[in-house]
Amino acid sequence: MADITLISGSTLGGAEYVAEHLAEQLEDAGFTTETLHGPVADELSTDGIWLVVSSTHGAGDIPDNLLPFYEYLREEKPDLSAVRFGAIGIGSREYDTFCGAIDKLDAEMKACGAKQIGETLKINVLEHDIPEDPAELWLGSWKNLLK
Ligand SMILES: Cc1cc2nc3c(=O)[nH]c(=O)nc-3n(C[C@H](O)[C@H](O)[C@H](O)COP(=O)(O)O)c2cc1C
Repeated sequence: MADITLISGSTLGGAEYVAEHLAEQLEDAGFTTETLHGPVADELSTDGIWLVVSSTHGAGDIPDNLLPFYEYLREEKPDLSAVRFGAIGIGSREYDTFCGAIDKLDAEMKACGAKQIGETLKINVLEHDIPEDPAELWLGSWKNLLK
C-alpha cells in the first residue's frame, strides 16, 4: 500500500493536475503515493493517509467523477477510523458556495470516523492562476504533520 493515496475530484481537469503535482512533491520527499481520479469503493483501502483534492461545480456540488466516492461515504458509512486525511478545495469566490464540495467531503469523511490532519486549504482560482502554487506551499507544512 502506498504511504499516501491522493483522491481527486475534477470536472475540467484543474484539481487533477494539482493532485498529480502534489504526488510528485510527496514522492520527492520520500513518500510512496497512488493517485486516484474519481475512485470507486473497490479501489480504496480504508486505512492509511488520504489527500483529497476537489474542485466544486454546479452550486456547491461535488464533481461528477467524485460522486461515486461521496455516495459510498454517505450510504455505506465505511469505518474510516484508521484513515487520516488532508483536504484541499479549489473553487471560485464568485460563488456563494465557495469550495462547497470539499466541505461536504470533509464532513462525510469525519462522519465515518476519519481524522483530519491540518486545516482544509481552499484555493480561490480568482486569486491564483496557478493553483499548484498555494497547494505546494500548504503541502510543505502538511507533510510535517504526518511524522
Ligand atoms: C458551471 C460552474 C459552476 C461552478 N460552481 C462553483 C461553486 O459552486 N463553488 C466554487 O467554489 N466554485 C465553483 N466553480 C469554479 C470551479 O470550481 C473552478 O473553476 C475550478 O478551478 C474548476 O476546477 P476543475 O478544473 O478541477 O474542474 C464553478 C465553475 C463552473 C464552470
